[in-house]
Amino acid sequence: MKERVLEEALKQAKINLEEIELVSVSISPGLPPCLSVGLKFAKQIASQLNVPIIGAAHTVAHLEIGKLLTEAKDPVLLYVSGANTQVISYEGNKYRLFGETLDMGCGNFIDAFARYINIGFPGGPKIEKLALESKNYISLPYVVKGMDVSFSGLLTNLKQKYDKGCKKEDLSYSLQETAFAMLLEVAERALAHCQKNELLLGGGVCCNSRLKEMAQRMCAERSTRCFIPPNNVLVDNGVMIAWLGSLMHKKGIRHDIKTLDIKPYERTDEVVF
Ligand code: FE2
Repeated sequence: MKERVLEEALKQAKINLEEIELVSVSISPGLPPCLSVGLKFAKQIASQLNVPIIGAAHTVAHLEIGKLLTEAKDPVLLYVSGANTQVISYEGNKYRLFGETLDMGCGNFIDAFARYINIGFPGGPKIEKLALESKNYISLPYVVKGMDVSFSGLLTNLKQKYDKGCKKEDLSYSLQETAFAMLLEVAERALAHCQKNELLLGGGVCCNSRLKEMAQRMCAERSTRCFIPPNNVLVDNGVMIAWLGSLMHKKGIRHDIKTLDIKPYERTDEVVF
């Protein structure tokens, strides 16, 4: 499988394996077995080619690829994926986390509700489609605590309302309006706190058209530029890891192939870059 992915990537990039000058691999954060498989394969290629290897942080990679592919220079990143929901920005010489989910990632929350109402996996695009069929807002818990958000109570409440007979379309519409408003409230406050005027979206949930629209509207109202990379870069991708690795290498950061290890629980504000 991993050999096939590498082969396909080389084909798409129109290069030979021998032309690779640096191997960059995602080492944090994430599920340990997945990170281990990637690191093992990356080490194998780096030693085979006798080129340097560098371990990159997944969350920071979302921010840096967004800067590369848009005109964003110093943005606040709203990173919303299955497992992660974070508001990140570079401030005081490091990446800092200004807000995050206190329980599950927004994407996992949406998928969990989609499974509950039997519309299958992945739930995001299906919930988005159902939401278009309603304009009937059903009041739901709006959970913003300081700069953080929480989805577990919202999920329980949605399930209860579905059991009581509320329509899937109304609940999907209300879920999006509530959850996305929570995310944008926190992102807006991070923009104000950091006195920045660029919002960047990242993560698979940001493929959602309603979230994009709400982000653009919030930005327009506060004279902030909203940058949205293409969907194939919003979702997890290898290009962002390669790009961050090359930036780190240019900056002089070096990792030893023998000691480089995964950091499954590394937090964004612990990343050295
Ligand atoms: Fe991600």
